[in-house]
Amino acid sequence: MEITAAPGAGAYVHGIDLNNVVPEDVQAIKDALGQYGVLFFRDQNVSPENHIAFAECFGAININRFFSPVAEYPKIAQVLKEPQQKKNIGQTWHTDHSYDQIPALGSILVARELPKTGGDTIFVNQFAAYEALDNEMKQLLSSLTATHSSRHVFGRQAYKEEDNDLTGRLGNTDAATQDAIHPIVIRHPFSGRKAIYVNPDFTIKVNEMTQAEGDELLQKIYSHCESEVFQHRFQWQPGSVAFWDNRATWHKALNDYDGHRRLMHRITVEGVALSG
Ligand code: SIN
Repeated sequence: MEITAAPGAGAYVHGIDLNNVVPEDVQAIKDALGQYGVLFFRDQNVSPENHIAFAECFGAININRFFSPVAEYPKIAQVLKEPQQKKNIGQTWHTDHSYDQIPALGSILVARELPKTGGDTIFVNQFAAYEALDNEMKQLLSSLTATHSSRHVFGRQAYKEEDNDLTGRLGNTDAATQDAIHPIVIRHPFSGRKAIYVNPDFTIKVNEMTQAEGDELLQKIYSHCESEVFQHRFQWQPGSVAFWDNRATWHKALNDYDGHRRLMHRITVEGVALSG
């Protein structure tokens, strides 16, 4: 197996067949997640069964509370946009599951049906974003925590008449009850490397500040993280797979393929409690 750093964020993994993964591959992938945050695989022909088996090498599977499952494979969630739908899933910067007390490790996304053009996913390297902060900001963030929530994104208040477009793809608003507090800077559980752990979709408050002060600080952090130097734009091809670690990345799925179908299979793996 060979791992090559990608510009901005993540790394490409070559010389592995995700249908036949051995224990040494699993350790190497964990080490690489702790260094690069997101791994990209090309030319895989992974079956749903082996997608599940690969995911289970890294922990228990988190069955998605909000996304529709793939028929006959309840452990796999569909990330789907039909040609007539206008909205896609995950089109703004986020870190999955930061609203959980024990956030998921990450997700393994397999391309099943792609539009002819568009539908790329952009990842941000939160290790590099942290390391590029000046010392004063690192010092300030080291003592702060933030609250994360799913209510405003997946809860009842998020569904208005004009959002019916998401019907059949997102639901279960009653499950959107999670709020969680995490340090703003965490240490990655695999590598100990520090990363910024707040994100525009789910972080709602800096706990040690007033709402206004905290919002101002979060905006400053977000502008810094959004810099293109920390980004990698992954162009999906048939057979592509991405495995991202939520503790080290943000991502967003571009919504630039109206009139075309995009179907991805996503499995999310459970993580561990985070510390600063
Ligand atoms: C997601 O946020 O899980 C969706 C990513 C994608 O569809 O590329």
